[in-house]
Amino acid sequence: MLAPAIDNEFVREVHAGLSGFGQKTLPCRYFYDAVGSALFEAITHLAEYGLTRADARILEAHAAEITGSIPGPLAVAELGSGSGIKTRAVLESLHSRPGLTYFPIDVSATALAQCARELESLAPVVPIENSYLEGMREVASRRRAGEKLLLLFLGSTIGNFEPDAAVEFLCALRSAMCPGDGLLLGTDLVKPVDRLLAAYDDAAGVTAAFNLNLLARINRELAGNFNLRHFHHEARYQAEAQRIEMHLRLRDRQTVQVGKAALTVEFAAGETILTEVCHKFRREQIAGMAGSAGFHLEGQWVDEEWGFAESLLRV
Ligand code: AVJ
Repeated sequence: MLAPAIDNEFVREVHAGLSGFGQKTLPCRYFYDAVGSALFEAITHLAEYGLTRADARILEAHAAEITGSIPGPLAVAELGSGSGIKTRAVLESLHSRPGLTYFPIDVSATALAQCARELESLAPVVPIENSYLEGMREVASRRRAGEKLLLLFLGSTIGNFEPDAAVEFLCALRSAMCPGDGLLLGTDLVKPVDRLLAAYDDAAGVTAAFNLNLLARINRELAGNFNLRHFHHEARYQAEAQRIEMHLRLRDRQTVQVGKAALTVEFAAGETILTEVCHKFRREQIAGMAGSAGFHLEGQWVDEEWGFAESLLRV
């Protein structure tokens, strides 16, 4: 029999999330394989999901003002390179800065290649294929002396962290930055519950497919036998915690095997797997979170149409 590849992080995290008592979980960063990335891209075009368009609207309207508050030679780094479209507005506003360099940080080589193609006419692109924090350490060692850094963390991905972990993560970013550097942080704002639920449970079922693809990925890559037809997408809003939770719910009891994790999972009838938390923020909470992480909030730009904030934090 093959020994499970316990050195593989995906295997370890799936094992940890699905074994033991209590709420079963799977980490949301495994959504983004080729299928999941394509489904997420589709989500960003849905009428119900205004988040990405709001993020882009703010940058298109205010990029010059945002980048203008960090004068002089500048390097731009970005956590999660995305499609590069939002970043275009930021780099365009910096066209007259001498020596501008762009460091996209992503674990996906495909995403990096795509964003390099999209942006290389605007600035030299130095792709960094790594996790966020390792990637930031690499940027710190490669950036030129005398130049400030503007770090982009857009799309409200910070909302995937539990509140304490978000502050801890921002602290870790800050420790890889220098005095005067800036972090442009995108955050989705609290809004009426019906809008939030529709954004995470769209009528066409794209978000449901995005959520279910996590099980399909486990089947493909880890020799799992999840029957996707037995799991149902569910979006819940927890008002107290100010967060959307995405779950996959089973109607009947079920046994599932994940071969490469040497795992047999027993699900009770009605049990769920929690696959993502997406925290929503109130404007005034962002300054508090920034302060707890040792940043100071220098500016904030809000899209009122959807309810999204772009905040410039300074070290
Ligand atoms: C990419 C984390 C910002 O939380 O809205 C979209 C991911 N999940 N629909 C979000 C997501 C379901 C998205 N982030």
